[in-house]
Amino acid sequence: MPLVQLIYVSSACKELSDDELDRILESSIRHNAQQGITGVLLYLNGNFMQVIEGEEAAIDETYSRIRDDERHKGLFVLARDVIPERDFPGWSMGFRRLTKRDVEHHPAFAPFLLGGFDAATIGARPGAVTEMLRQFSRV
Ligand SMILES: Cc1cc2nc3c(=O)[nH]c(=O)nc-3n(C[C@H](O)[C@H](O)[C@H](O)COP(=O)(O)O)c2cc1C
Repeated sequence: MPLVQLIYVSSACKELSDDELDRILESSIRHNAQQGITGVLLYLNGNFMQVIEGEEAAIDETYSRIRDDERHKGLFVLARDVIPERDFPGWSMGFRRLTKRDVEHHPAFAPFLLGGFDAATIGARPGAVTEMLRQFSRV
C-alpha cells in the first residue's frame, strides 16, 4: 500500500475560538493515531493549511471525512503525492495557530501567509509549502 501525502487549504466558516480549534484537534489526533496518519495543521486569520500522510486508503477515507466537515469550506488540494517516507513522523496531528509575529519572523513566507494561504500564490512554489509546514511545526 503506497504512502501518500495530501496537502490542502481551506477557510473556516467563522472565526474559531481556541476551544473550537481544540475540539478539531482532539478528534484529529484520536482518529489519526488509530489510522496511522501523521501531519500538521496550521491556522491563521480564519484559514487552514493541513498536511496529512499515511497509507493511501486511510488518507482517502480521512480526507473525505474532513471535506464533509461543515466547520470549513473552499477546500483546495495543493498536492497529493506518493512519498518514500513521512515528513512528519512524530505527529498524529501537530497544530500551530499562527500570529502576526510568525509572519514577521518568516518574511519569505509572508506572501503565502498574508494571502490567506492563497492557493494561486502557493501553487507557484509547491516546495515552499512543505518547507513552511516543517518550519512552523518545530515547537
Ligand atoms: C480543518 C480541519 C482539519 C481536520 N483534520 C482532521 C484530521 O486530520 N483527522 C481526522 O480524523 N479528522 C479531522 N478533522 C475532523 C473531521 O472533519 C471530523 O469532524 C472528525 O473526524 C469526526 O470525528 P468525531 O465525531 O469522532 O470527533 C478536521 C476538521 C477540520 C475542520
